Amino acid sequence: MDTKQLKKKYIEFFKSKGHAEIHSAPLIPEHDPTVLFTTAGMHPLVPFLMGQPHPQGKRLVDVQKCIRTQDIDEVGDDTHITCFEMLGNWSLGDYFKKEAIEWSWEFLTSKQWLGLDKNRIAVTCFAGDKDALKDEEAYKIWKSLKLSDDRIAFLPKEDNWWGPAGNTGPCGPDTEMFYWKLNDRPAPKKFDPKDKNWVEIWNDVFMQYSKTKEGKYELMKSKNVDTGLGVERVTMVLNGKTSIFEIDVLKPIITKIADITGKEMHHSNERSFKIIADHIRAATFILGDERGVAPSNVDQGYILRRYIRRCVRHLRLLGADPANADSTVELAKVVIKIHGDDYPLLKQKSRFISEELKKEQERFQKTLDKGLKEFEKMALSMADIDAKSAFLLYQSYGFPIEMIEELAAEKNRTVDRKGFDEEYRKHQELSRIGAEQKFKGGLSEASEITIKLHTATHLLNEVLRKIVSPDIHQKGSNITPERLRFDFNFDRKLTPEEVKKVEDEVNRLIKEALPVVKEEMSPEDAIKKGAQAEFGARYPSKVSVYSAGKYSKEICMGPHVANTKELGHFKILKEESSAAGVRRIKATLE
Ligand code: SER
Repeated sequence: MDTKQLKKKYIEFFKSKGHAEIHSAPLIPEHDPTVLFTTAGMHPLVPFLMGQPHPQGKRLVDVQKCIRTQDIDEVGDDTHITCFEMLGNWSLGDYFKKEAIEWSWEFLTSKQWLGLDKNRIAVTCFAGDKDALKDEEAYKIWKSLKLSDDRIAFLPKEDNWWGPAGNTGPCGPDTEMFYWKLNDRPAPKKFDPKDKNWVEIWNDVFMQYSKTKEGKYELMKSKNVDTGLGVERVTMVLNGKTSIFEIDVLKPIITKIADITGKEMHHSNERSFKIIADHIRAATFILGDERGVAPSNVDQGYILRRYIRRCVRHLRLLGADPANADSTVELAKVVIKIHGDDYPLLKQKSRFISEELKKEQERFQKTLDKGLKEFEKMALSMADIDAKSAFLLYQSYGFPIEMIEELAAEKNRTVDRKGFDEEYRKHQELSRIGAEQKFKGGLSEASEITIKLHTATHLLNEVLRKIVSPDIHQKGSNITPERLRFDFNFDRKLTPEEVKKVEDEVNRLIKEALPVVKEEMSPEDAIKKGAQAEFGARYPSKVSVYSAGKYSKEICMGPHVANTKELGHFKILKEESSAAGVRRIKATLE
């Protein structure tokens, strides 16, 4: 069974249990300031996990593309990748532990579905601590499915607890399912979660608590289920493989790397093969995302740059021709071929993907060899790499700091990371590189501010059309707790008078105290009624449409404030160019 068949079966199974299918959200989240990428299926669903009704109901099922850079150092073994697809079934205040666990078990073991060997399955449950009770309920359900005590381990919060990134909000214990991956050695009677041959394949999270700002865990009235099943890992065990790099979506990339470098993958070079395969897939998906970005030195663009440059270095380690700047493009073509049917945007954006990869590879290949020589000199003259030297490699040769750390680690050295960060801060006004979690205030606080900025974004969008030009449309939007950022098509700078008029008009609408109302309808009806829609978006059969008074109308997942009077005073901070024919406004609420 390949990944396509697995995804199809999963959706079919949960549809038969009353779930509605929702599409994968973009990898780059629009309104979640706590993460740079969608790291799990739950991210795009946070507003609904926090109580907002979902237009498609209380039972949902999806395939979500994810980027999880937290695992980047583990890439190189047989089961870790940072770019993957996650299957999920969701209960928003509907079913809970019994159905979730029983359906997981049925899907995994029933001959009609995956038919995995029950004797090779083991699970973990939450052990309990001062905040929350031991998960006896999950344990009893597993026992009722005839799982023996030897195959059920209890683990603490570090292992068996899940919540959104940020400190507050819905969270709860989880139960994780593992599969014994070896075919030539029977699964040991006693389950040892530390034994790497037990591979985690599925996680059922039971969101029954809400963590308050004060750090208390309160039981929630409406409980949710969030499950995540790793497509690549399950395909691996279904096919009796012991490495995910042997399955349909990764093997052709490995083959292409061998082709480009003239090397076969074996024990001494497999880490480079696996890093390249994972990273090129991640880079292709980021460039080909609905909100795809180009390489840069901040935020998602920086992570992308890091992925591409690390690919280039490992290609070189494998002996790729230093004059060839097309290898990442050739590899990306394989990725697009594999995933293009499920993610058609990859095909539509293939030119952008190729151009950006080639530019970035060329840029880095110009400095890579000199930088490596410089590093060798440094390694000879000092024990650990000091901050100034690391900064030189970063600034003059374009080495991402994580790559410098990797080079040092290969020689059993460390890098003065703290000193580097200080040095970096001295040179840049913002230090946000590598920061996966950007806003430390916690999800509740962040969401309060960002909800307001989100409603302000809708007003701004409409006001620009009214004051500046009726042809203006949204080209991009990004919200952090500090500001909103709105990109739109327009081919010249706004005059100071226009900026002032736009600002005044948004403030007038705020003062008018317009109620913000949500309606649900088909996307066709929404567009007929004049709602703004995102270009190229694949909408489900029913969408939410938010209107501010009679004024603005947009297809949008929300959430929004109930009335514009909650917004306070709107202030434009900056109006600048963002790309050819695209202007950018940064604004805030005071
Ligand atoms: N959020 C959980 C995870 O990512 C389950 O989907 O593992």
